Amino acid sequence: MAYAAFRSIGAYVPPKIMTNADFEKIIDTSDEWITKRTGIKERRISEVNEASSDLGAKAAQVAIERAGIAKEDIDLVICATVTPDYLCMPSTACLIASKLELPPVQAFDVSAACTGFVYATSVAKAFVESGMKKNVLIIGAETYSSILDYTDRGTCFIFGDGAGAAIISATENKEESIIDVNCSSDGNYEDLIKTPGGGSKHPCSQEVLEQKMACIKMKGNETFKLAVRTLTSDVEVMMKKHNITPEDINHFIPHQANMRIITAVGKALGMNEEQTVVTVDKYGNTSAASIPMAMNYAYEQGKIKAGDTVLFDAFGGGLTWGSALFKFAPKK
Ligand SMILES: CC(C)(COP(=O)(O)OP(=O)(O)OC[C@H]1O[C@@H](n2cnc3c(N)ncnc32)[C@H](O)[C@@H]1OP(=O)(O)O)[C@@H](O)C(=O)NCCC(=O)NCCS
Repeated sequence: MAYAAFRSIGAYVPPKIMTNADFEKIIDTSDEWITKRTGIKERRISEVNEASSDLGAKAAQVAIERAGIAKEDIDLVICATVTPDYLCMPSTACLIASKLELPPVQAFDVSAACTGFVYATSVAKAFVESGMKKNVLIIGAETYSSILDYTDRGTCFIFGDGAGAAIISATENKEESIIDVNCSSDGNYEDLIKTPGGGSKHPCSQEVLEQKMACIKMKGNETFKLAVRTLTSDVEVMMKKHNITPEDINHFIPHQANMRIITAVGKALGMNEEQTVVTVDKYGNTSAASIPMAMNYAYEQGKIKAGDTVLFDAFGGGLTWGSALFKFAPKK
């Protein structure tokens, strides 16, 4: 049987920085309030006409180089995004494959909001373990600045732009395989985080434009409580299933939504500060890109090494949630 190994990580962030002080100029807020409630100090914003595929292709390029594989050997491209270049088609994964100049290849998007990268990991694992694919490029790429209402003071300061990517490859060595990925959802909570307009339910119209219905609408307070509960129980189930404790985890990489959420979840699970990766202060919430960007940050700091045990923990609109447990297995 083939196993799936997590071979490399890469990321790209656009250089333009939007600080909390910049938000003080456009909404009734303060650096102090945003820092205290979220831990966010700044976030990245893409250029006009710089789309998710542009960010995603740059992140993917890094992941491919670090994996040391030829582009021709990539046989599947999966992009997790809820800010695709185009609402319906083509998929962002198709565009990324083209920007990378890959030969014709199966490519599609997954839509699971902030849990997207964990969903993509589970799909890649399944394709590799079934023997259907050998080298899967997975990407989380978001340009949230394109769906933010910059007059909505309860939401607009939270999100940012960026992309992360990884290569998942077939291996015969069980020791270096992705141990488990668990994903779930509950559509009963659809109204907590939503872009209500522009899709088939409320197609583009004058009303959709005037009410900014194609922008993200979020019930922050209710989302906060569910995020803490779900991110915690999700990992408790994973740890129990594999009979592991926090001491067995080298790097806990939670979705970077809010420092208070990360702290509460870490405390409930017994994860300490050293093993918990935090980038929310620098990049805000970049949704599907948040986990791979955080992993890449820790990797570039020299913290993540071959054989380390990594635990992803994600939560997002849908609602969706998921966790992934694996050994980081760069090619020797
Ligand atoms: C958005 C969030 C920071 C708001 O914090 P909160 O403590 O829940 O704030 P509330 O919405 O209850 O509002 C509290 C007060 O702050 C005010 N406020 C809201 N936005 C503000 C802002 N940007 N600046 C200053 N004050 C603000 C409100 O008007 C309210 O004032 P009031 O008490 O006088 O009525 C918080 O709910 C959150 O982070 N939620 C999770 C969001 C998230 O992570 N989503 C993604 C999940 S994947």
